[in-house]
Amino acid sequence: MFYPILKTLLFSLPPEKAHDLTLQVARLSPTLGHLTGTKLDSRLSVQIGANKWGFPVGLAAGLDKNAEALPFFAAQGFGCVECGTVTMKPQLGNPRPRMFRYPEEQSIRNAMGFPNHGLLAILPRLKFHPGTIPLGVNIGKNKDTTADESIDELCLLFESMEYLVDYFVINVSSPNTPGLRELQEKSYLSELFKALNECRRDTHRDVYLKIAPDLPIEKVRELAKLASDFKLTGLIATNTTIIPELGIGGVSGVLLRDKSRLVRQSILQEGLPLELIGVGGISEPKDLFEFWYHGGKVAQIYTAYVYQGPHILKTFKKALLDFLSSEGLSDLENFFKLSLPERQRILKPYL
Ligand code: FNR
Repeated sequence: MFYPILKTLLFSLPPEKAHDLTLQVARLSPTLGHLTGTKLDSRLSVQIGANKWGFPVGLAAGLDKNAEALPFFAAQGFGCVECGTVTMKPQLGNPRPRMFRYPEEQSIRNAMGFPNHGLLAILPRLKFHPGTIPLGVNIGKNKDTTADESIDELCLLFESMEYLVDYFVINVSSPNTPGLRELQEKSYLSELFKALNECRRDTHRDVYLKIAPDLPIEKVRELAKLASDFKLTGLIATNTTIIPELGIGGVSGVLLRDKSRLVRQSILQEGLPLELIGVGGISEPKDLFEFWYHGGKVAQIYTAYVYQGPHILKTFKKALLDFLSSEGLSDLENFFKLSLPERQRILKPYL
């Protein structure tokens, strides 16, 4: 009820102003997070890696980059909250304007370039996470850091936050840091994963690699195999996509959906011992059912949350509970214990 009114106000402002204002309110009023949030229901919790998500849809990276409003987002009803991308040193990011809306397509284009307060400022804020749902941190290199130096930088970020978060995401897939996507190379990533495996003290902390939707499918398969060889928990697919006709930066939301979906399907087809967090253009329960149909379990959203507001979590919750009761299933954990062909048979009418 309240979001359509708030959205009219927010959408009358330039996108980044609206984003900053929303975050200020969220930071100052965790109670509002509860009031507008959706209660978790134990029937909808899902185990993924070492973490139990209270709901199969989490908040993707980039919205709370600086971990300023963790209690607010934890109270919204998401299954996880991922802050970041956090870099070692603070940085301003690219010049403004760098965020653009495409309301008819329910999409956003951004060319932010990792503006964030840096590790030292963000570190103490992680302690304010209420711990009710898993907290992830997405880490990346500073703009002026070379590929060689970035391995030490990422290891340091990892070591500094290892006991404060539930999972890590290595981000080499943003289109807005020059040369970053070139780090999605087997040689670089092998060196990075080796270094991370050596520096980690708590081997149970989940680690994911977040990939771009613009990679050739053979490359996606190669990276999935590499992540599995180095015993990463899994992949996050995908980051934003480049659509040069629209301008610089990366596009998210409905315009990203098909590309992102193909990448996810090609990873799932590999049948590797990896988790896959699906993100990119997920905006309605049908998108999640489709991801499940191909073998996925949990997803994240960003753009659909901006366009639909907190109510989107109620929409998903209702659809998932209706699904369980129509199919005579007690909970999602039991659904995921079924074989893939059996799950596909059940899901077919929902696609
Ligand atoms: C992002 N995203 C993002 N991802 C990331 O790994 N680190 C980041 O700092 C950001 N920043 C960011 C800013 C803005 C304005 C947007 C819209 C997106 C990408 C995000 O996490 C997600 O992968 C994509 O947006 C695709 O999901 P949706 O938005 O289609 O649900």
